[in-house]
Amino acid sequence: MSSFEKHAILEKSPTLLFTASLLVVTVGGIVEIAPLFWLENTIEEVEGVRPYSPLELAGRDIYIREGCYVCHSQMIRPMRDEVERYGHYSLAAESMYDHPFQWGSKRTGPDLARVGGRYSDAWHVDHLIDPQSVVPESVMPKYGFLMDAVIDGEHIDELMRTHRFVGVPYTDQQIEVAYADFQAQADPDSEYDDMLERYPGAAVSNFDGQPELTEMDALVAYMQVLGTMVDFSTFVPDASR
Ligand code: HEC
Repeated sequence: MSSFEKHAILEKSPTLLFTASLLVVTVGGIVEIAPLFWLENTIEEVEGVRPYSPLELAGRDIYIREGCYVCHSQMIRPMRDEVERYGHYSLAAESMYDHPFQWGSKRTGPDLARVGGRYSDAWHVDHLIDPQSVVPESVMPKYGFLMDAVIDGEHIDELMRTHRFVGVPYTDQQIEVAYADFQAQADPDSEYDDMLERYPGAAVSNFDGQPELTEMDALVAYMQVLGTMVDFSTFVPDASR
């Protein structure tokens, strides 16, 4: 009997084919999933990755609320065309404090995983108010109303507590002073040194240029931190994994 004929036996009996497929899928599933239960951590920790500052975290909430992820991904795949366009491919550790992660699956607009620092705050504000004023053929909606949505971080400690509940290592102290840190990051005239110690590398700026603190400030603060936590001039991938 040739191997074709042997296989024909399987193909002609639905019960046999079903049982055999189930067996194959089960073995494959166990081989892929079981080791994860014995690994201490599936994410290689990388220097520089820290939880979001209160203002960045608030901006991230606005990003999710406005559905930016519907058109933007936040994951640069390790392929040449992506790396040339967007920068170093995304590391798992870079989204370890993202709950839920914002990898996305649709790119109507460009990937935003490393947009931090690429444009000025003013560019972001102009672009969000009227994308077509900066990129005439853009199909991105206008978000000018964020300029009028005043926020003060009143409930930011609760948001941070929720993130801590799902695994983000915010300390008691970080939560206690969250309100002050929230305000300090958007005010270059404030005493923001302590805030920067808690959130190294956070951009301190009056992001939207208005005296009030608005959702625009928070969203731009979030844009400016994306992909900037890891220093890729010194980063060496752990080859032992
Ligand atoms: C309907 C799809 C759509 C939605 C929703 C959308 N964008 Fe965009 N976005 C685009 C497109 C298309 C571009 C490219 C043209 C341009 O720059 O406007 C873009 C560009 C951008 C850029 C510039 C990226 C770069 O590398 O040049 C940023 C930043 C950005 N969007 C942020 C946002 C944020 C923040 C939101 C949510 C508040 C959002 N987008 C919602 C479609 C969208």
